Amino acid sequence: MRFSSDDVIKLRSLIKPRLSEKRYSHTLGVERAAVRLAKYCIPELADEAAVAALLHDVTKEIPYNRHVELLKSNGALLDASDYESPAILHTFTAPIIIRSDFSYYATENVLSAVYNHTVGSPDMSVFDEIIFLADFIEDTRTYEASINLQSFVWKNMKDQDISANRKVLHRACAEAIDAAIINLIRYKKHINIKNILTRNALLSKI
Ligand SMILES: [Fe+2]
Ligand SMILES: [Fe+2]
Repeated sequence: MRFSSDDVIKLRSLIKPRLSEKRYSHTLGVERAAVRLAKYCIPELADEAAVAALLHDVTKEIPYNRHVELLKSNGALLDASDYESPAILHTFTAPIIIRSDFSYYATENVLSAVYNHTVGSPDMSVFDEIIFLADFIEDTRTYEASINLQSFVWKNMKDQDISANRKVLHRACAEAIDAAIINLIRYKKHINIKNILTRNALLSKI
């Protein structure tokens, strides 16, 4: 499905009241990065990438109990390991809220990319990977791993070379997971098994 620029502008104003100022600014950064990545890797879906980016963290700021409630009432089948990392629960509750409160925007691509944007999936599509990577390399991120990956990606993406750009995308997603895992190890935090499976699947695509 194609969205118009009016659809995207309207969505920006719909999500703004649900997010803190900082999260909204991050979200607009993800939108910019996602549209730019889409133009290099899957140009026909650039507007849909804007929509997925705008919605990716739409439940990030709801309380933990609300996440659990939403997941239970929608019969979500999560592994015990998913509950070990409360920060990732928004990736599973956002599609539920998108279906109910933003149904006009609830395409399969959008729902899948939002569902997979935090821990990934071994079956991620190019569209999923774009949102996953845009979340990591958007330009309001200031930590070293993000800055390094921003320069790697924007230096290596080339006009008119979609298949080479997709390789850069796979590699950059794998690098983003490496950086996230190193961080989790450093802070003795739980590593979600899907993170590892996603990384291995990406490595086999490079
Ligand atoms: Fe997120
Ligand atoms: Fe995010």
